[in-house]
Amino acid sequence: MAANRKLLVLPGDGIGPEVVGQVLRVIDWLGEKRALSFDLQEGLVGGAAYDVHGTPLTDETLADAISADAVLFGSVGGPKYDELPFELKPERGLLRLRKEMDLFANLRPAMVFDAMVDSSTLKKEVIEGLDILILRELTGGIYFAEPRGIEELPEGGKKGYDTNLYTTPEIERIGRVAIDLARKRRGKVTSVEKSNVMMSGILWREVMEELFQSEGQDIETEHMYADNCGMQLVRNPKQFDVIVTDNLFGDILSDEAAMLTGSLGLLPSASLGAKDKNGKMRSMYEPIHGSAPDIAGKGIANPIASVLSLSMALRYSLDLDSEANSLDLAVQQVLDDGLRTKDIISAGKKEVGTSVMGDAIIAKLK
Ligand code: IPM
Ligand code: MN
Repeated sequence: MAANRKLLVLPGDGIGPEVVGQVLRVIDWLGEKRALSFDLQEGLVGGAAYDVHGTPLTDETLADAISADAVLFGSVGGPKYDELPFELKPERGLLRLRKEMDLFANLRPAMVFDAMVDSSTLKKEVIEGLDILILRELTGGIYFAEPRGIEELPEGGKKGYDTNLYTTPEIERIGRVAIDLARKRRGKVTSVEKSNVMMSGILWREVMEELFQSEGQDIETEHMYADNCGMQLVRNPKQFDVIVTDNLFGDILSDEAAMLTGSLGLLPSASLGAKDKNGKMRSMYEPIHGSAPDIAGKGIANPIASVLSLSMALRYSLDLDSEANSLDLAVQQVLDDGLRTKDIISAGKKEVGTSVMGDAIIAKLK
């Protein structure tokens, strides 16, 4: 790893700039106190980019993202942009980054912090100690495949359609990431599709099964229909370790898994590309939560998901495992101390705003 780690920060819209603001403070702290040098660059994405450049992502920002060691992303979207044409909507900036950076592997951990066990709507015994990982395929399937469109019908009215399409190499590469991740965790992969209904699902299951046979003999593997997986996630989520699934099912199941923990505001994610021949990998890190326009600008947003996304960046892209561990521990300690932002407040805990939460995390790092 070069002395200068190149980070591109894209705060985006809504609460994005506030939560990423705390991440920047942590990066400053690491720079000063741990003598790490970061080459920090900031850019615009989503509505913020549209307001200035008339597009949710400029080619220049995309090029910066591709050449960075890691992109730290806030969130995009907001009611102000609801009426924009499809191609100019803030979300298109995010989707273009994912696609053009080829970030096919989206890691969405859902873990329950001990201090937060009573925040879930599920019974304590169902979710206590929960630590699962949804691995979502992020650059294929119905999000991107052609044909798609809305067209007039000769008899009047219209048809709107999308295509779900996966190729063997696309399924294999996400399957390999699932096996690798499971090996470092509890050694189980559940592959999720709808092979009882969808052609792309039949291929998904076939290719995954072949991969499990040829490369996954040392781990436990299984297949599950997506609807059953949705049900099992609320019935008994601890049966899972790594769930690997396609772009659309992954979108839905990861929101469901996140909410098992009772706190969307705590969960990070990593979107990773393939390693090149020098071992370098494109990557982007973002909190699971959205732009939360209703609370934007009030200084009350929860920065923890963003801070934990930085921790994932330190671990996966920057070879700074021990810093990642300290940061994870700092967050856990702050929660143990009873500090809570408004989204996760409960009786007997101390409500704090975004920057006081940032202060507390940094104080624990010391
Ligand atoms: C997510 C989001 C995005 C998605 C939106 C904002 C396009 O819901 O990251 O899960 O659907 O992938
Ligand atoms: Mn989503």
